[in-house]
Formats: sequence, structure tokens, C-alpha cells
Amino acid sequence: MTGLLIHSVSEFSDLIMTALRLAEARDIVEIGAEYGGMSALLAEHCRVSNGQLTSIDPAPKQEFRDWLSTNLHVRHLAKTSLEAFGELEAADAWIVDGDHNWYTVYHELKQIAAISRRAGKPVLAFLHDIGWPCGRRDMYYAPEQIPLEYRQPHRYDAGAILDQPSLVPGRGFRGMGQSAFATLAGGPRNGVMTAIDDFLADALREGTEYGFAEIPAVFGLGVLFDMNAVWSERLAELVLPFHQNKLLRALETNRLRNYLRVIEMQDEAAARGTG
Ligand SMILES: C[S@@+](CC[C@H](N)C(=O)[O-])C[C@H]1O[C@@H](n2cnc3c(N)ncnc32)[C@H](O)[C@@H]1O
Repeated sequence: MTGLLIHSVSEFSDLIMTALRLAEARDIVEIGAEYGGMSALLAEHCRVSNGQLTSIDPAPKQEFRDWLSTNLHVRHLAKTSLEAFGELEAADAWIVDGDHNWYTVYHELKQIAAISRRAGKPVLAFLHDIGWPCGRRDMYYAPEQIPLEYRQPHRYDAGAILDQPSLVPGRGFRGMGQSAFATLAGGPRNGVMTAIDDFLADALREGTEYGFAEIPAVFGLGVLFDMNAVWSERLAELVLPFHQNKLLRALETNRLRNYLRVIEMQDEAAARGTG
């Protein structure tokens, strides 16, 4: 949106790269590359550990495509995640940052769990955008690809603001024509965090308990991992200080208020014809 406002999952790179080393992850799947900021860090990790990075994005930015042309060891699948799963081997870690809606994320997690189970590998997944605005509100890059019964009523031209479930026309946090937001936040089958809650509840019913940390910064990062992995205790120690951390949450809320104020100023400048 603007360079002033941080938004990438790569803001968590210290934590993610430490976790990848700790879990001795070699093969990594990234869902959602966009400009490739995180992809470059992951590719370097895979190169050093003799692993493979597979990056899935149906429409990455040109910057990612340019970078890919000189990093031929990285595999890019120009498909949606749910189309790509049939071609995927089990990975040691997954970065989930593609289409931020219940249907996509719930099924991504189901696929990740099934592929990992078949290969006998523990699950380690980092999920971005689990906080506001997508935690409890679907966002769609391509709403027509979501089956009708799972698709929330949505709009491209209205935005999310804090402390209010309904969108505001022409204002707030919005996708500028690139993505649509559900018109209402909350309720069943709505949002990334709701998808994770439902996945974890299903798993528990089936007898599997995952570890899960919620890091309330930069739109929220979730770390979901197998409690039976040999590295699970060390990973839990790494993420525990960040889990639902009150100071981080207060800073994020303040950042979001400032973020929305910047959007408001951009909208005012655009309305004056100076934006
Ligand atoms: C939020 S951006 C990813 C940002 C990137 N991970 C980063 O932090 O720098 C989301 C990306 O997901 C891609 N995308 C949209 N729908 C997708 C899907 N169903 N599967 C995989 N990627 C998808 C978009 O093209 C976009 O580039």
C-alpha cells in the first residue's frame, strides 16, 4: 500500500528463520509470494540446508518473477494453493500467506496435515494475517473461486475500520480493486483465525493436539506445530514470550490506528486531486 506501513510476513523473519533452523527444516513451501520479500530469505535458507523452496502464487508481482529468473533452484507454481496441492510433496515447513479467507485457509491446513501425515513428517506452519483485519473477516483475491456456500457477501469499494464489524464505503482498509472484503466481520466460516480455530477443533476431536502461538503484531502471525516433533519443546520456548503478548497487542492496535489515519490522509489527498 505504502512504504510507510509495514505489512509483510518478512517482518517476522528473525523468528521464522530461527524456528526453521531449530526444526532443521530443509524443504519449505511458501503460499503467497507477492514481491518475494520472504521468498528470498527462504530460498537462501533452503540453499544452505540443501533443501528445496516451492513458492505458490497464481499472480506474483513482476519483482518476484525477475528474481525467479536468476534463482532457478526455486520452484514456482503459478496456481492457487488448493490447485497446487496435488503436485506437492511433504515439506518440513509451510508459510501460509495467500488468499486470506476461511475456505482457503481451512482447506490449506487440512491438506498440509494430510500430506504431512502420509509422509510421517511433523507439521510446522507459519500463518500470516491471523489478526485484524482478516482474522475474523474474509478477504478474497478471486471471490468467484470460492464455492458459493462458503463465500461471504463482500465488497471491493468499502473498507474495514477498527471497532466496527461492517465495512465503510470508500474509506478504511481495503484492497484498492485488487481484493474484496466480507461486508461483515465475525460469525462462522469467516476469517483466517476462524479457519485455524476450526482446524484445531477438528484435529482435537480426531485425537491430535497441535501447539499454536498467536503473535499479535504486523497483522498477526500464527505458529502451528506438531506437539510430538522432536523440536516441539524448543520451538514452544521460542514462541511462548510472543504468544498473545499484551504489549505487542497494544503496539499493534496503536499501529493500526496510525495505519488507518494514513489511509484517511491518502483518501483526503486523492479527493482534493493531490494524491
Ligand atoms: C499478502 S500477499 C503475500 C505477501 C508475501 N508473503 C510477503 O509477506 O511478502 C498474498 C499473495 O498471495 C497470492 N494469492 C492469492 N490467492 C492465492 C491462492 N489461492 N493461493 C496462493 N497464493 C495466492 C497473491 O497473488 C499475492 O501475491
